[in-house]
Amino acid sequence: MKFEINSYQDYQKEYQKSVINPEGFWAEKANEFIWRKKWNNVLSWNFTEPTIKWFEGGKLNITENCLDRHLQERGNKIAYIWEPNNPNEKNIKITYFELYTKVCRFANVLKNNGIKKGDRVCMYMPMIPELVVSMLACARIGAIHSVVYAGFSSDALANRIQDTQSKLLITSNGAYRGTKQIKIKTIVDEALKKCESIKKVIVVKRTDENISMLTGRDVLWKDEEANVGDTCNAVEMDAEDILFVLYTSGSTGKPKGIVHTCAGYMVYVDYTFRNIFHCSQQDVYWCSADIGWITGHSYLVYGPLLSGVTSVMFEGIPTYPDAGRYWEVIDKHNVNIFYTSPTAIRALMTYDIDFVDKHQLTSLKLLGTVGEPINESAWKWYYKHIGKEKCFIVDTWWQTETGGIAISPLLNVSYPKPGYAMHPLPGIQPTIVDGTGKKLIGNEVQGQLCIKFPWPGMLRTIYNNPERYKQTYFTDFPGFYFTGDGCKRDKNGDYRITGRVDDLIKISGHLLGTAEIENAINSHHKVVESAVIGYPHPIKGNAICAFVVPFKTSENPEQLKLEIIEQVSHLIGPIAKPDKVQLITELPKTRSGKIMRRILQKILGGETTHFGDTSTLINPKVIETLVKENIKEFQLNNNQH
Ligand code: WTA
Repeated sequence: MKFEINSYQDYQKEYQKSVINPEGFWAEKANEFIWRKKWNNVLSWNFTEPTIKWFEGGKLNITENCLDRHLQERGNKIAYIWEPNNPNEKNIKITYFELYTKVCRFANVLKNNGIKKGDRVCMYMPMIPELVVSMLACARIGAIHSVVYAGFSSDALANRIQDTQSKLLITSNGAYRGTKQIKIKTIVDEALKKCESIKKVIVVKRTDENISMLTGRDVLWKDEEANVGDTCNAVEMDAEDILFVLYTSGSTGKPKGIVHTCAGYMVYVDYTFRNIFHCSQQDVYWCSADIGWITGHSYLVYGPLLSGVTSVMFEGIPTYPDAGRYWEVIDKHNVNIFYTSPTAIRALMTYDIDFVDKHQLTSLKLLGTVGEPINESAWKWYYKHIGKEKCFIVDTWWQTETGGIAISPLLNVSYPKPGYAMHPLPGIQPTIVDGTGKKLIGNEVQGQLCIKFPWPGMLRTIYNNPERYKQTYFTDFPGFYFTGDGCKRDKNGDYRITGRVDDLIKISGHLLGTAEIENAINSHHKVVESAVIGYPHPIKGNAICAFVVPFKTSENPEQLKLEIIEQVSHLIGPIAKPDKVQLITELPKTRSGKIMRRILQKILGGETTHFGDTSTLINPKVIETLVKENIKEFQLNNNQH
């Protein structure tokens, strides 16, 4: 496998090239792929309109690069080792040739069910091989895939289907998660009551759950796949045609459908995958992320397949049947490169170290984390107990919007530095700005992270909503892409991400909007209004506290709190459940009606006197009441424990 970056000199050379001549730099990378027709123009862009186009005029199909081009050289190589939830169930190994055939067959199924280029297809599935096959089958025929994480509720699923107007949904009857069986199809049936666009549902039978099938709408994967051909010509796609839509939370209640296109995404994900993970052709690579998130899309599906690497795909959870499952899987499949989340590491750290020590972990060469800041103690535990002090750790910073990793330590380039994402990847030109938009030059600066030049993997728009695209990313700091993250560049020029600076919160690595959760809470008939804030949590990174103003506080408050938590789970999904609910009489608001979250944050932290400037509060007395209510709540909880 080719790595451009294997020393500090390489990194500097690549980085310089990418800044001085970005078009030449990326054209050289793009030349390595199979194109039906090469591009006319590498890049046209402006961040004002905004418009970004890479490789315009180029024609290709990403699946020819993920599958067809490997067949001759490594058709019999394993693409995926699928490890089921239950360790006693047999794992499945799928070669590149088998994957190619499955994708072609399922692409034929999609065609038989009326799917054409440009149609949207939604997937709501557990981590089973059919999910990868579905995504690639869509890409094969030019349909746009929209994967929805199978932990979302039926309402959340329905909203996403309505936004894309998907014609077809692929799902499973049920899912295994640890000791639980999830009734996936029941959630789907509920969602589809509100989704007229869906004409067909294709169901994979994963569990022994009996389900009802709606005649005319629902069909079984295995029946559909029984009588189709083994080959399917790839549809020629324009470089800038949409490859997929993936939803992420935003600062309004409605999630944003992030749009990625075929060529730029492919070139960027491939470049970052190769240079960050340094997989050789013999290596086994494992990204433990769910495919319902961008990490799964880029570094469990497209990245490794473009490189022709062998990946582990895991259906289960890290604590089933016990807290040693990840380590057992690493030994079982001789995993060399392991990429996971800080939340998983923090959760596993709380168990007896024997769960780690009874495994060898000698195959490991490189470790990675993604999705949220990693605290120093988790980094050190990972380095010592999992990496045995010999594996380099890549703490990769990126976003659904960036398509691929944008800032990361690099093997043989960076020195180990816990908590630092370190170096911008070639092609990424970070700029730190202060609150007024002034560029902070030089080292030892801290502010908000922007990127000043386009890179091929960046989002192209928000599905159906170009205005929101402009507003969210290109308006606060004109001329820049704004990430929404705080960032520090230290005295050595190394980057550290300090967390979100907007109304979004990372909980267990999942990005959630405070407005989205507040909307869910406010829809409870006993609630007047609410404000959601994040606070530090030892395992999840952040937890949610909801301050809720009910119509009447006197009526069974504990019951109401439970109902509120249930309401959020029902409308969004269990990942968004508040950890604490505090019933209060009034929210601290400015005269213009904005909630002063800063005050709530301080109150939750136990502050009683120092609240800074509160002159804009509509009712300054509210603080006193909130402090009293917080103390009461604290005493109540302590008495309960
Ligand atoms: C956060 C996940 C610190 C950040 C790939 C970003 C991180 C958001 C890191 C995007 C990291 C991601 N260190 N924070 N290494 N990686 N983040 O869209 O706040 O789910 O903006 O993409 O996660 O989350 P998303």
